[in-house]
Amino acid sequence: MSAQFKEVPEIRQMRVTDIDRVIIIEQEVFLFPWTWGNFRDSINSGYHCYVFEVEGNIIGYGVMTIYADEAHILTLSIAAGFQGAGWGEKLIQYFISLAKEHHSLSVFLEVRESNFGAARLYERIGFKPIGTRTGYYPAMGGREDAIVMELKL
Ligand SMILES: CC(C)(COP(=O)(O)OP(=O)(O)OC[C@H]1O[C@@H](n2cnc3c(N)ncnc32)[C@H](O)[C@@H]1OP(=O)(O)O)[C@@H](O)C(=O)NCCC(=O)NCCS
Repeated sequence: MSAQFKEVPEIRQMRVTDIDRVIIIEQEVFLFPWTWGNFRDSINSGYHCYVFEVEGNIIGYGVMTIYADEAHILTLSIAAGFQGAGWGEKLIQYFISLAKEHHSLSVFLEVRESNFGAARLYERIGFKPIGTRTGYYPAMGGREDAIVMELKL
């Protein structure tokens, strides 16, 4: 369950001043989180970095690159207390719209083999598994494979 809001959550571009708050969520939801510098570099490189904000609080964020006709969602998270309420799907749909605006032909992402919840959500949206990157992610006591997923636009 997540809180009811008086304001409608809005998706806006991530600023460097948001990173301290983004990092708190990142460290809460990922065992191997991105660093502050990873987010700063993403913003400075012109990646598509967005936050989901409501009543002054950041409840989620994501980063996507678009090169030629391919978009790639690099990371996407909703704060633990706000998961399961549809915000993740809204954020993904926002990135999909952005990719379409840029005339991308596909959106790609990687998901940990063990992250069944996220994979199920991506499949429901229309992403299809197209391959595996062996040992792509660090994991407790070793490495974990990534499932590569593609949404054709
Ligand atoms: C994956 C994530 C972004 C989804 O956002 P969300 O707001 O929780 O998802 P939504 O409420 O929009 O969609 C819910 C759907 O997500 C899936 N789902 C996501 N997390 C789940 C979980 N832990 N357990 C079960 N299903 C889950 C289900 O398919 C669910 O559908 P249902 O409600 O019909 O069962 C969010 O859970 C998250 O940040 N998780 C931790 C970080 C992460 O794994 N990021 C993705 C890396 S590839």
